[in-house]
Amino acid sequence: MSTPSLNIVVLISGSGSNLQAIIDAVTAGQLHANIKAVISNRPDVKGLERALSANIPALTLDHKQFDSREAFDQQLIQEIDQHQPDLIILAGFMRILTDDFVKHYNGKMLNIHPSLLPEFTGLNTHQRALDAGVKQHGVTVHYVSNELDGGPLVLQAVIDVNENDTVESLQQRIHQQEHIIYPMVIEWAAQQRLEVIDQQVYLDKQPLENPAKWINNQLIN
Ligand code: GRF
Repeated sequence: MSTPSLNIVVLISGSGSNLQAIIDAVTAGQLHANIKAVISNRPDVKGLERALSANIPALTLDHKQFDSREAFDQQLIQEIDQHQPDLIILAGFMRILTDDFVKHYNGKMLNIHPSLLPEFTGLNTHQRALDAGVKQHGVTVHYVSNELDGGPLVLQAVIDVNENDTVESLQQRIHQQEHIIYPMVIEWAAQQRLEVIDQQVYLDKQPLENPAKWINNQLIN
């Protein structure tokens, strides 16, 4: 049985290593998605170069050129909707989105956040995890809701925090996990295995009571 292809638009603000992982998974035939466009709110970032190298339309929509958050988000909606995506992928997109924007893409927008949500929403998650002395840390793929880093959780990669871990070592190890789990979740959506109804995530028609876990290269749910 062939897997239908999913149309996606990826929003970035920076390096775009997650974007690269998604591009690579598509190229390798592991992810059945068409990346219709990449949009950055910051000019001249590496992620835009990555998109262009992969022949993906890349656009900068500089938030500084807009008078208000609302005006920026409305323009962003227009740009995204031209591509009629099935899913919007936030991949290091460092903007707080308006309620109207989030509502417009209700159940169709995913984000990746470098912590085990609901722990450590917001910024500097690795430093805060170290300061709190947690034994485990990780990264979460979740649907986007109106709450900052809120919304139904889908999959978390979990790593052990070692005594000698630093912000840099955690960042590096967690990035490696991000590059595995984000394409994985998008492929679930492409295979129509993933749904969210009334803030409840379903994987293979089964409600996820807790997010699925990716631990030591194994999926547990
Ligand atoms: C990642 O750490 C992701 O979890 C967070 O932003 C970062 C983006 O990195 N949301 P990159 O631009 O994909 O390299």
